[in-house]
Amino acid sequence: MPEALIADLADFGKTVVAWQRRHGRNTLPWQNTRDPYRVWLSEVMLQQTQVVTVLGYYERFLARWPKVTDLAAASLDEVLAQWAGLGYYSRARNLHACARAVAELHGGEFPRTAAGLQTLPGIGRSTAAAIAAFCFGERVAILDGNVKRVLSRVLAFRGDLASSVAEKKLWDHATALLPERDVDRYTQGLMDLGATVCSARSPNCLLCPVQPLCHGQQEGDPTRYPVKTRKLKRGRRENWWLWLEKSGGQVLLQQRPATGVWAGLWTLPMFDDEASARAALPAASLETLPRIQHALTHFDWVLHTLRTTGAATDTPAGTWVARENLADYALPAPLKKLIEES
Ligand code: ADE
Repeated sequence: MPEALIADLADFGKTVVAWQRRHGRNTLPWQNTRDPYRVWLSEVMLQQTQVVTVLGYYERFLARWPKVTDLAAASLDEVLAQWAGLGYYSRARNLHACARAVAELHGGEFPRTAAGLQTLPGIGRSTAAAIAAFCFGERVAILDGNVKRVLSRVLAFRGDLASSVAEKKLWDHATALLPERDVDRYTQGLMDLGATVCSARSPNCLLCPVQPLCHGQQEGDPTRYPVKTRKLKRGRRENWWLWLEKSGGQVLLQQRPATGVWAGLWTLPMFDDEASARAALPAASLETLPRIQHALTHFDWVLHTLRTTGAATDTPAGTWVARENLADYALPAPLKKLIEES
């Protein structure tokens, strides 16, 4: 970092810490604990998901699996079923693999350094640093999506974060900005600033404690940062679901392959086009339900549903699941909603 920039940001860390103490979030259920299991669980859930969504899942996971060794003893299907609706299901697989690694390779205790934590499945550099800072007070920098936004604005960082060289540079800046003490509160403060003040589209600079230090603000338009040139090109996909329901309320489900979108989750039998879906049950009279639009990271998914509740013969392969047992199966959120509401 240029010398002048370091000098004029000398108070950055202290300012964030003081602001967090007064204005940050301090009563979330994963705060005020140094238990790495609780902190790790929350950080993984919060990786791509907002606090309000995580709260219920977090409590249910802890009630069912109070210790990391309990989670390690669960089956992957049980974990996926509890995760259903949170999205980004590779997180659930890694969560399970990580719990097993902690139980089997580390005697049930999480490693106590960011470097050690980072060797575990699903724990990247930023998550490792967050756990180490919160639980063990380690002086290490985090750099998740929100913090990239805050720091690139404060620094008016011109590097393009699609490039790994620029990203590495921002990591170095993040490390240089760390305060000498209170790194746990500072870490939470950066997260809180990113989530509540320095929002992506309309940052509330009037409420921002580091506004007087912010180079992006001084230039006039902090939303120019972070610079990202590589645009994600979104695709579109279309599929047809066949909803077969027996009169007693049993629904036919299929488990998706272990890789790809919704890996390992259970859905209705799925087809690439309407003709194939109809051909699977030529004699049935099928009701067309309203289509569902579901946005994933790389594409928008349009899902059509054809339903029959009559007695069917020669049905596609699958598992008949009673409606009251659906909670034991990991259904993607839009399907869960469809079945509950239709
Ligand atoms: N997002 C990621 N980690 C978080 C935390 N500890 N508190 C609130 N939001 C977060």
